[in-house]
Formats: sequence, C-alpha cells, structure tokens
Amino acid sequence: MKYIGIDLGTSAVKLLLMDEKGNVLKIVAREYPISFPKPGWSEQNPQDWFREVMAGIKELIADCDKTEIAGIGVAGQMHGLVVLDEHDEVIRPAILWNDGRTSEEVDYLNQVIGEKKLLEATSNIAFAGFTAPKLLWMRKHEPELFARIRRIMLPKDYVNFRLTGVFATEYSDASGTLLLDVKKKCWSEPMLEICGISVSQLPRIFESYEPIGTLKPQIAKELGFGSGVTVAAGAADNAAAAVGTGTVGDGSCNISLGTSGTLFIPCRDYDARWGNALHTFLHADGNYHLLGCILSAASCNKWFMEQILQDKDYSGIQKKISQEKLGRNPVFFLPYLMGERSPINDTNARGTFLGMSMDTTREDMLLAVLEGVGFALRDCIEIARSQGIAITKSTICGGGAKSKLWLQIIANILQMELSIVKTEEGPGYGGAMLAAVACGEYATVEECVKNTIQTVEKVKPDAEIAARYDVQYEKFKELYPALKPVFRKLNVWKQKIDRRNEE
Ligand code: XUL
Repeated sequence: MKYIGIDLGTSAVKLLLMDEKGNVLKIVAREYPISFPKPGWSEQNPQDWFREVMAGIKELIADCDKTEIAGIGVAGQMHGLVVLDEHDEVIRPAILWNDGRTSEEVDYLNQVIGEKKLLEATSNIAFAGFTAPKLLWMRKHEPELFARIRRIMLPKDYVNFRLTGVFATEYSDASGTLLLDVKKKCWSEPMLEICGISVSQLPRIFESYEPIGTLKPQIAKELGFGSGVTVAAGAADNAAAAVGTGTVGDGSCNISLGTSGTLFIPCRDYDARWGNALHTFLHADGNYHLLGCILSAASCNKWFMEQILQDKDYSGIQKKISQEKLGRNPVFFLPYLMGERSPINDTNARGTFLGMSMDTTREDMLLAVLEGVGFALRDCIEIARSQGIAITKSTICGGGAKSKLWLQIIANILQMELSIVKTEEGPGYGGAMLAAVACGEYATVEECVKNTIQTVEKVKPDAEIAARYDVQYEKFKELYPALKPVFRKLNVWKQKIDRRNEE
C-alpha cells in the first residue's frame, strides 16, 4: 500500500508519496503567500493551505493506481490560531507561530497569572507564538470576531477538518496551544477560563498515529479515491520531523533547520523540573519531548541572500568561505529577525550585525549569519545541558541542512556529531509514517522507525575549530544581554510613532 505525507509549512506545502517499505516515490511542493500586515505580525489564509493541499495531492497521485493509497498523515506548522464560525467559515486570517503581536498578553500570562500557575496547568510558560495569548489578543482587539468563534483549531487540524469533517487534534500540536494540560493529557480547565473559551470550542484529542476518520465522500470523489482512505491524526511539524528522522526514545535528538530552527529532545518520562525556556510537549509516539525553537533559522540565510545581497547562488558564495575563516569571524549576527522565542522569549529583539570594519566582506557577513543561527541553537542546547540532559549527537533535517558548510559550522558550534538520514523530508516523511501506523502497516511508531530510517552521512566536529567556536560563543553570549534594553527602547519609540500616525 502507499501513504501520503503532507508537510504544511510556512512558505509552502510539501507532499510525498511513500510505499509500505518507506521508499519515497514522488515529492511535490506548492507555495502560498504569507503576509506581515505590521512589523512582527505574521498571517496566512487557511483557505490557501487547503487549496494547495488539494492541488498538491492531485499532482502527487496523477500517475499512480489510486486504489493503492491507504492513508494520509499531515504534519503542520505549530501554534497557529485558526478560528471558524457557526457555518465553519474562517473568521480571520490565521495568526502564525512566528507572530509577535502578543507581548502584552504574554506579560499578563507570565506575570499576572504567574509562571507557577501556568506551569501547574500546562507544564509550560507563555511565549508570543503560542495559541492562548493570541486568543486573549483577539478577545481584546477584535471582540466581535471573538464572539463569533465556534471552533478553535491548529493549521494542520484545519486541513484534516476539511478532508474528513472530523474536528480533531493530537497531543504534539495541542501541547503548543498553552491550553493543554501536558502532564494529564487533557484540555486545561483553568486555561480555558483564563482565555474565556469553553471545551466545546476545542477539538477532540487523539494520539498522532491514530486514525481520525476517512475522507469525506465529495473529497474522495474529487481526488479520484475510493471510500476507504484513512486520515491519521498527524503531528506538529517538529514531532513529525522527529519521527521522520528516527528521533524516538531517550538519548536521541533532532535539529530542524527550516524557516524556524528547532532542537527536539525526546523523553520517555515526564520530569517536573522542565518547563522554563524549553517547551515541555508530548511526542507523536505517545511519549514526551523538550523543544527549543529559534524563530528564524534558514529564513535568516534566505533573507540575507535574496533580500540583502539579491543573489540566489547560495552555494557559489558559500564556496568562497574557507576553513580558515571558521571560528575566526570578527563579525557577529543576532538572528532575531522575528523577535526570539527560545530561550530569551523577547518579541522586541531584532536581527543585528556587530563587529564590522572597512575590510568586512559579504562572505564575512554571510558567515556571521550562518554562525549566528548556530550560536542561537547552542543557547537552547546549553539550557538542556544545564538540566542534566547530555546530548552528544543529533540528526539534522530541513532546507538549511542541504548546505555542507552550514552543517560543519553547526557541528562545531554545538560540538555534536550530526547525522543525515536518507529521506530528507523530515515532517512530510513523518506524516506518511504516522499514516502507515494508523492503517496498521506497523504496530507502533517505533517499529515503523526501525523498518524505514537509514543514516546516510555523518558530520563530525573538528577539535580545533570547535575550540575556536567555544571562544566565539562566549562573545556571542554577551551581545543580547547588552542590547536587550536598546531593543526595548526601539520598540517603545516605534509604538509612540505608530500611535501618533494613527491619531
Ligand atoms: C515550534 C515552532 C515552529 C513551527 C514552524 O514551536 O513554532 O517550529 O512549528 O513550522
């Protein structure tokens, strides 16, 4: 049988077709727009997602025997707020995971409600991208729209809802709402009360590998399928990427270098010490994980290359960066183009170059961008290490992992061996694997991993370069604390000017 894995990303949806042995037969991608209506805001139209998913499925299965398709599994960008009215129409554009408009709501949750209460209720504290602060923002700024909300859902759950008609979510994505009691695996009554919503507005929660239903008859007909195509609950993109790189069970780790950069550490048992700078979420295999998320990773590289240098020859310019340069760059870059989540939790932070002089080249600046992302990931690793979690190796996936230079830089900054698996399509592959488990092809996610994942390459740190990067990291660590008050002031000025312009 064959399975469709769908990665509902931020810039595009990527779809793949996988056979029962885990071979990828075809991959397609379709882009959709993202809008930044105000600085720090980030929105997408859920209907665009669904339109491109449908077109993508049609393209993916154009030449195959449709009776062989058994299941679909969707992996989705996390935390996005999708709200539907009583006619199941989208009420407003989705507010995405990298949207920073909720700084006031986050302060209210962490300081007035209090981190202690949030940790008790959800095992997490509030971050701007999470769903609950967005509900508070909507209640305050768009009360008429808020009053019309009949259903609250996450991006991939909207796609599943349109495919099946079933109002469902699963634990890995629900963890990122700040509405889930992660420890007890149920919606948190105190959080629902704080946000002014009721449990009837929230979906039923499944395990990622469970089927939520089958395609609606009219959807199956439009796609040319029979009646029995199963839709798995799917997973948050990071949890699905973890499945798709074999990151299950204690001792493993996955780094994703996509639009965001994430550090994903699976844990079998819940540990009450977690829950500050890293998120404590549930995994798609039924266990837990710790997640660190930097908001801009491969997107920093894309921004610097395409927006600033106006150059699409990514590997051309990287080839000009010699080994000698690694760990000796006088230029530093803070990769906070959308503010930052882990570990600093600061929506005011902004992308910044430091240390330039008259002899600085574009290669030095690009190297600083690649290194800055590596240092920001190291900030997350340091938190995990400070909690006694020893991480010595990791898999790595996502668009940024295609650059050999960047892999080398990251392996040295993190002082970790990085493995690349045969199928690079982390979340989409994980989605297809979850569909295979939901259809009974494999008994468990772990069994599916054992039968499908193969490592094809390893990148090891070099002791000398890693030592140089240790020194550089010490310098990097000083930069954000020194600039934090400046970032805050810049934002206060910006707000004053915005207000004056509005009056
Ligand atoms: C994780 C996060 C991002 C998005 C990107 O917490 O916000 O990784 O899931 O799609």
